[in-house]
Amino acid sequence: MNFVFRTIITGCSFFLFYTISAQSILDEQVEKRLKTLTLEEKVGQMSQIDLGVLAVGKICEVADPIRLDTAKLRLAFQRYKVGSVLNCGCGFHALSRKRWLELIDSIQEANTRYTAHGIPVMYGIDAIHGANYTLGSTLFPQQIGQAATWNPDLVKAAARITAYETRASGIPWNFSPVLDIGRQPLWSRFFETYGEDVCLAKKMTNACISGYQGNNFGNEQVAACMKHFLGYSYPFSGKDRTPVWIGERELRAYFLPTFQEAIRLKAKTLMINSGELNGVPVHASYPILTTLLRDELGFEGVAVTDWEDVYKLHTTHKVAETLRDAVKMAVMAGIDMSMTPNDFQFNELLLDLVNSGEIPESRLDMSVRRILKLKMDLGLDNMANSKMQAGYPLFGSDSFARVAYNAVGESITLLKNEGDVLPLSPGTKVWVMGNATNSLNYLNGAWSQTWLGQDARFNEPNKMTILQALQAGYGKENVLEVTPQFARKAKRFPGAVLYCLGETPATEIPGNIDDLAITIPEEDRKALESLKARKVPVILVLLLGRPRIITDLDKLSRAVVHAYIPGQEGAKPLADLLYGKINPSGRLPFTYPRSSGDIVHYDHKRTEDNDINFGSSGYNPLYDFGHGLSYTRFDYWGMSVKPVNDTFVIQVLVRNTGSIEGKEVVQVYYRDEYAPVTPAQKKLCAFAKINLKPGQDAAVNLKVPFSDVGDIGADMKPFKASGTIVFRAGHQTVTLNHKP
Ligand code: GLC
Repeated sequence: MNFVFRTIITGCSFFLFYTISAQSILDEQVEKRLKTLTLEEKVGQMSQIDLGVLAVGKICEVADPIRLDTAKLRLAFQRYKVGSVLNCGCGFHALSRKRWLELIDSIQEANTRYTAHGIPVMYGIDAIHGANYTLGSTLFPQQIGQAATWNPDLVKAAARITAYETRASGIPWNFSPVLDIGRQPLWSRFFETYGEDVCLAKKMTNACISGYQGNNFGNEQVAACMKHFLGYSYPFSGKDRTPVWIGERELRAYFLPTFQEAIRLKAKTLMINSGELNGVPVHASYPILTTLLRDELGFEGVAVTDWEDVYKLHTTHKVAETLRDAVKMAVMAGIDMSMTPNDFQFNELLLDLVNSGEIPESRLDMSVRRILKLKMDLGLDNMANSKMQAGYPLFGSDSFARVAYNAVGESITLLKNEGDVLPLSPGTKVWVMGNATNSLNYLNGAWSQTWLGQDARFNEPNKMTILQALQAGYGKENVLEVTPQFARKAKRFPGAVLYCLGETPATEIPGNIDDLAITIPEEDRKALESLKARKVPVILVLLLGRPRIITDLDKLSRAVVHAYIPGQEGAKPLADLLYGKINPSGRLPFTYPRSSGDIVHYDHKRTEDNDINFGSSGYNPLYDFGHGLSYTRFDYWGMSVKPVNDTFVIQVLVRNTGSIEGKEVVQVYYRDEYAPVTPAQKKLCAFAKINLKPGQDAAVNLKVPFSDVGDIGADMKPFKASGTIVFRAGHQTVTLNHKP
């Protein structure tokens, strides 16, 4: 035994020694490199420009096809030593893999030609639901749909493929995932979040960062970029980049945990929130960017600004009287790299601030160290020759498309199914209507081939719309796209009508809305009403990135299916689910409100139920967080919760009592009856997705650390729930009297 013991100890200490020494070797290399850099070169490493700045044409009006401008390359690298380039060029569009590799090769060659420091340029891009700016790549559901799968393995697989295809495009840095929690449904980027719940969002964060960065960082991984730190997603008005007011306790309870999880997983970079938090633009906030992010959370990676946000301290937030003040404010607050992105004033002003002694060069060294370390982590030295990128045989492959199919199939959420009107029987005559019936853009959403995803010119030619997938799978003779006029004049009626309702693809400020209610054309409404009057089942198919109010349409419908923003692989799994080839297993990652004035969250407080006493509805969403139906039925029994050491050991028995195989998301909630701060009426603490054949039982075992059952106190410190705690899974409950 002691031989084995000795071997284990030796192995571990070698591993530990190896790790520490590898780290110290890297640190030494960084220090050596840093010492060789001039002040201009250090400033250059802290600056990032948009691809459009290097291309023929005007800013945001890049000549198409895109080609690099030699004079602009020389200006950027010889004069300003710029260290990073991003995206596809403001206002530009997706490119082929080959074109990306050529462009990035040329940029690297220009950098080598015009600089003496030998540090490669680091290219960054938004690949937020696949490598969405590379033509032919695999696109997945937007994050809100990935959260609706409640399947971290699928999210990890999607992230791994996204990393593979982004690296195959010669790009090692991905401005993803969005870790902002989705609790403001009006917000235009709600679809880019993992929904409203911390437990679910943390699990998806873990899956995504692990998928992007892997365990051993190589040429199939990308540097993740957790964004947008901190408190971006909760604008009081619902409009993007407008004031956010969040108390510190709520900030720590709801908005910080996903970032803490990403930092625990060593996410390599972070993007800063463009907006203001409690009156202070985050790009100017030392307490957020240094005291919290660095000193408290221990983040060691690169913090990049968001688009033009140094300048916006002067131009928009009006906290800096000049651009020079803005640069000083942002750098001293703690930014590492400025996504400038359209000029070189940042470079000139920062140089001047250091030369005038207003910013010590040692402050720049802190950021340049992080940037150099990141570039070495990414192995950029080896990437200079994109010929090495000739591999990646799986790029855009059917096997990757299959993963996307499964992700969509497991995300789609069956919200309502009156009289089991779904699944449809093959051969049923079906009419299809609605704005999302025949559009890839409604399936993809923003960040798809172009920033807003509204330009059909770059849609992939071989991907199917909903109508095409229905007709290809279930017969053109059975599936007919109809106009509302046709529907109202018809004398013969179909077995069902699908109403496919989407939102115009958009994000950020262009995606702002004034009303959470969504309206459909009056003639559509009249047609649906007349079809309902004739007992034709209306099936509402939602392609929405945020829970728009659809209560009146819900009343018109026998079934409601939420497909979120599924991506260009989404039409076929949607069609297969409607016809029963896929048994729905998606669950809502957010509370679906019944009315615009009733924005509540499932983890509501007791006071949000009070108005029941006065005849109002209290907490009464249209559909609850975690809700989703199946074509089969599941029964729960025998729930037990046992505190063992610092963990709740939870078991619940589940049976598929229906006649078809299906997946169930076992969700465990708790309520801390009395707490130092007002307790949520229910809070998710664990979940597991299981697959059961008809009649099959499963014992689902979950372990929940005491620290995951609790809250943040008024003293801003986490506390563990104690006293009476009620745990619930399905209709099963267990009440503990617990002392942690
Ligand atoms: C945008 C977004 C950010 C994105 C960046 C680069 O303004 O806020 O999420 O990564 O610019 O495209």
